[in-house]
Amino acid sequence: MANKDIAVIILAAGLGKRMKSDLPKVLHPVAGKPMLFYPIEVVKSLKIEKVIVVIGHKGEEVIERLGGKGQGARSKGEYKSQIQFVKQEPQLGTGHAVLCAEESLKTWKGDILILSGDVPLITRETILGLLDLHAKKKATISFISAIVENPAGYGRAVRNKGGSVVRVVEDKDASQKEKAINEINTGIYCTSAQFLFSSLKKIKKENVQGEYYLPDLIAIAAREKKKVACLTHINPAEVMGINNRIELSEANEEMRERINNEFMLAGVTLVDDETAYIHKGVKIGRDTTIYPNVFLEGHTNIGERCIIEEGCKIINSSVGDGSVIKSHSVIESSQIGKDAFIGPFARLRPESHIEDGAKIGNFVEVKKSTIGKGTKVNHLSYIGDAVIGKNVNIGAGTITCNYDGIRKQQTIIEDGAFIGSDTQLVAPVRVGKDAYIGSGSTITKDVPSGSLALSRPEQRIVEGWVEKKGLKKRER
Ligand code: UD1
Ligand code: CA
Repeated sequence: MANKDIAVIILAAGLGKRMKSDLPKVLHPVAGKPMLFYPIEVVKSLKIEKVIVVIGHKGEEVIERLGGKGQGARSKGEYKSQIQFVKQEPQLGTGHAVLCAEESLKTWKGDILILSGDVPLITRETILGLLDLHAKKKATISFISAIVENPAGYGRAVRNKGGSVVRVVEDKDASQKEKAINEINTGIYCTSAQFLFSSLKKIKKENVQGEYYLPDLIAIAAREKKKVACLTHINPAEVMGINNRIELSEANEEMRERINNEFMLAGVTLVDDETAYIHKGVKIGRDTTIYPNVFLEGHTNIGERCIIEEGCKIINSSVGDGSVIKSHSVIESSQIGKDAFIGPFARLRPESHIEDGAKIGNFVEVKKSTIGKGTKVNHLSYIGDAVIGKNVNIGAGTITCNYDGIRKQQTIIEDGAFIGSDTQLVAPVRVGKDAYIGSGSTITKDVPSGSLALSRPEQRIVEGWVEKKGLKKRER
């Protein structure tokens, strides 16, 4: 059921100065997705229809990454939700950022949830908790706080003698006494549209940073004797804001733990769950085993009963049931069928299709090629721009010479062919069904089905040559 009572504003316009980066902060990846992806995911899971993302610094890049087109676009990309982008230019603080969404919400009568683009670990359950508290307490404004060990950098929740929150003071504006408060503001709020937009206009920028602070809404509500509700979160890791690369690393660690726990509970063995780097959105079937230091990235789909050994990197690829990827193999934008055997030390470059039961051995590189069912390319070969049929044997050191200096040319090898070791196939070239190629051949012309092709100088023997040359070793 769609949630029509709540609109959401997600703040993502800030520069992210402390990241010291050319990439906008909200696009820095957590488990492979831009951190802004996560609050959007939560909002989508709550079926909230009205979603406004405030962009500013490199806003076009943010829209593009989220799949929208141009200012005000409704995103149709990877995230497929109805996101409306609103521009904040210049960025005068979080209060000003929210005000930039006023125009888009001018007919909005309900409540507004405000999320931060740099708080990616937030969960659906926590947001539901905030909305529930807001309704139950009939509050004018509700927000989430957390008790943390090290509150430095965060705004602090200041409570009165009665224990109610009366304002939030930013780290940079806090007195020594206020800095000692370890209850922080997480930057997540719920309030009515009416209170929000009328009060934002009362916020001043008389503070150390010269910015319009959104958390000043708390003080305005308290001063006007309006109800402020505060949900104090018990797991600070979930509501951490990411401002620098240390926090980015911590968020990745936390997200990794979540993702990996989910896989383990779903029947995937992680030999060392702390060194399995699996991107959000990757799929893995049950009874698959993942060894340490494995990276599974992008749109990757691993089947059931697979073994992915240590040090492998698999990006945007699929691996069929029962396949084994031996140590230190790199696979990118490729498809591997069932019961295939890849590596160790194999490299599959984009557009490689390895069919069921095929074997790609050590130090083999495959690029933009199809390797048919049951075919073996076991050692030290380069296969590029080739179509190889079923049950072909490619001997050690076989090279497809696919590049003539101008164009890439194709090699076709039909079912059942046998390519002797150290063969060069100078493309374009075709080797017919069941044909044989003798070892060490340079094949420049098509080889008909069922024939033998050999292209190497006849062997010559010079008898007694060593003795004649006086090279015979003295016997000891
Ligand atoms: C903010 C809160 C602080 C809270 C902390 C929690 C303010 C003034 N302070 O501090 O109380 O403890 O979050 O993580 O709100 N943004 C804009 N436009 C701007 C400025 C910021 O869209 O002009 C966006 C940023 O992209 C970011 C979010 O708002 O996603 C928070 O901004 P940031 O500068 O990180 O605020 P903090 O200093 O962390
Ligand atoms: Ca922040």
